[in-house]
Amino acid sequence: MTNFVPTPTVAAPDIVRCAYMEIVVTDLAKSREFYVDVLGLHVTEEDENVIYLRSLEEFIHHNLVLRKGPVAAVAAFAYRVKSPAEVDAAEAYYKELGCRVERRKEGFTKGVGDSVRVEDPLGFPYEFFYDVQHVERLTQRYDLYSAGELVRLDHFNQVTPDVPKGRKYLEDLGFRVSEDIKDADGVTYAAWMHRKQTVHDTALTGGNGPRMHHVAFATHEKHNIIQICDKMGALRISDRIERGPGRHGVSNAFYLYILDPDGHRIEIYTQDYYTGDPDNPTITWDVHDNQRRDWWGNPVVPSWYTEASLVLDLDGTPQPVIVREEKSEMAVTVGADGFSYTRKADGDGPDAGDRAGFKLGAQL
Ligand SMILES: [Fe+2]
Repeated sequence: MTNFVPTPTVAAPDIVRCAYMEIVVTDLAKSREFYVDVLGLHVTEEDENVIYLRSLEEFIHHNLVLRKGPVAAVAAFAYRVKSPAEVDAAEAYYKELGCRVERRKEGFTKGVGDSVRVEDPLGFPYEFFYDVQHVERLTQRYDLYSAGELVRLDHFNQVTPDVPKGRKYLEDLGFRVSEDIKDADGVTYAAWMHRKQTVHDTALTGGNGPRMHHVAFATHEKHNIIQICDKMGALRISDRIERGPGRHGVSNAFYLYILDPDGHRIEIYTQDYYTGDPDNPTITWDVHDNQRRDWWGNPVVPSWYTEASLVLDLDGTPQPVIVREEKSEMAVTVGADGFSYTRKADGDGPDAGDRAGFKLGAQL
């Protein structure tokens, strides 16, 4: 039985969008090579311990913070809120939930002011801020525009052992569900949740957690993603291409998943759709629909379902990973959000490929 997070009596903070992620990397030089030289993110500021990066169209100080540390992990999923008062609202909201809350008027990173960081009810380090240093928006710096240019931070993706619990908590926090994956009993296996007017600012994927599945940057067009594949091939780092390129069923986006030197997963993403109307319909996918994850029906590699990054508590210690309970039909036929392969018949019948998923836990 899902143990739901209670709904606070105080108003949820008014969140604008996902704004940045802070990750710990074990070799800052190697990570700089990957994010700056290969992916072309722009350095706002850096020193021997930390690099602040932003995408081409960003006007706030950073979208990604690389901090040197002993254990590769995620230190913060940071959201921008609508006004300074909403930082107060975030603090009150999480205090009422009984979460650990830390407020820093000077911010947790350079370029960001008054902020609240919390250990949220799912165990993730969430941050909320409004005050931020503006920097040059590079939109028309075509002299800097690369063929694989990353233009915006698009979304986070989080792995949690109890997706229904997480969905209810994030809906209370003001997120709306654009798409989800359910089984015949109505159990949610994954949910895409937004504040800005795209498919998502974050998604919940079922699995051992809390862990960070990926952070996604947007490109303008599909061909930008193809260029990243070509470039990684030319640099002989094609082993860092984990999955794709392809077209998602959920979100309709064209995608690519790649791995940084520590194994943090980055998605490159383009061409999802507008979700801003209040009655934007939620699209529900059947957990057995093999086109939900890849519109062309290509298999999903096992690592994509089993591997993810640790997340840190507010002291910088990795949160313990809780093994997902096996529930309903997923225990025997599917895992995660429906762990299965297409075109991999196990000989049991014409739809065997659809049922040939690994037993959850076998790969964990
Ligand atoms: Fe994604």
